[in-house]
Amino acid sequence: MRNFDETTITEAVLGRLTGASDPRIMEISAALVRHLHAFVSEVRPTVAEWQAGIAFLTETGRMCSDTRQEFVLLSDTLGVSMLVDAINHSTRGTTESTVLGPFYVEGAPTMFNGDDISAGLAGEPLIVTGSVRGGDGAPVAGALVDVWHSDGGGFYDVQQLDRAGGLAMRARLVTGVDGGFRFWTIKPAAYPVPHDGPVGRMLQKQGRHPWRPAHVHFMIQAAGYAQLITHIFAEGDPYLNSDVVFGVKDSLIRPFVAMAAGAAPDGSDRSSGFFHLHYDFALERDPECRQADLKVAAR
Ligand code: BEZ
Ligand code: FE
Repeated sequence: MRNFDETTITEAVLGRLTGASDPRIMEISAALVRHLHAFVSEVRPTVAEWQAGIAFLTETGRMCSDTRQEFVLLSDTLGVSMLVDAINHSTRGTTESTVLGPFYVEGAPTMFNGDDISAGLAGEPLIVTGSVRGGDGAPVAGALVDVWHSDGGGFYDVQQLDRAGGLAMRARLVTGVDGGFRFWTIKPAAYPVPHDGPVGRMLQKQGRHPWRPAHVHFMIQAAGYAQLITHIFAEGDPYLNSDVVFGVKDSLIRPFVAMAAGAAPDGSDRSSGFFHLHYDFALERDPECRQADLKVAAR
């Protein structure tokens, strides 16, 4: 077969896929060809536009490194990451999930409940309290709670590696017998996703801002439950309705409550004001899930 034109090329490419031995590869390849051809037929790019598209993807790849994943950012800002998340996570009676983002670090410092995870950074004091439960409300003791967030200027520790002190505003905690956890830190702020690369230029040309509302990230694992990756967003944040990565869900918004000096929720006595954020997480049952090993005892 040869002499393909606009009306025959799609079927010709699909016909070449019949030798694929893995049916899932066949299904994905065929859908890719059909949708990509439909996209090009609809857009009818000039050759210069097609080359600009290839150059954009090339630059996106070149921007990727151990500390920067521009393709994930592209997926996030085009809403693809949240679409994949929606396809793979049910929301019935359990805490909703959202994007992982690029600032998660494996093996964050393990800490005890009640510890300050801010590594002494300047900021407005915040106590975060909560619990981990099953969908039936039963407390999950010994769950591994990974947390990470930005500082009051909107920067993560890994964006300021030249700063003395290393990792900060991230930790791994273990829930107590009542399923509870608590930690002190500093209040995070809204921040723009990295926008000095091709994705930033794309956002600008699309007339979009690069901002995410203030949030705290959580990754929770417990034996017998599906892993939960989510954030808790600050109530009242101006970017809740226009998060650049489409990650906000109503059920994940909570107030960062301003508290006066005095007794704090962990029983400590504070000499000045602070903020309090509370969230009770509900995990989906999955008997096949095991928990990562963590050499730390709950307290
Ligand atoms: C984040 O919340 O850390 C994040 C998520 C997606 C893209 C960029 C940052
Ligand atoms: Fe974040």
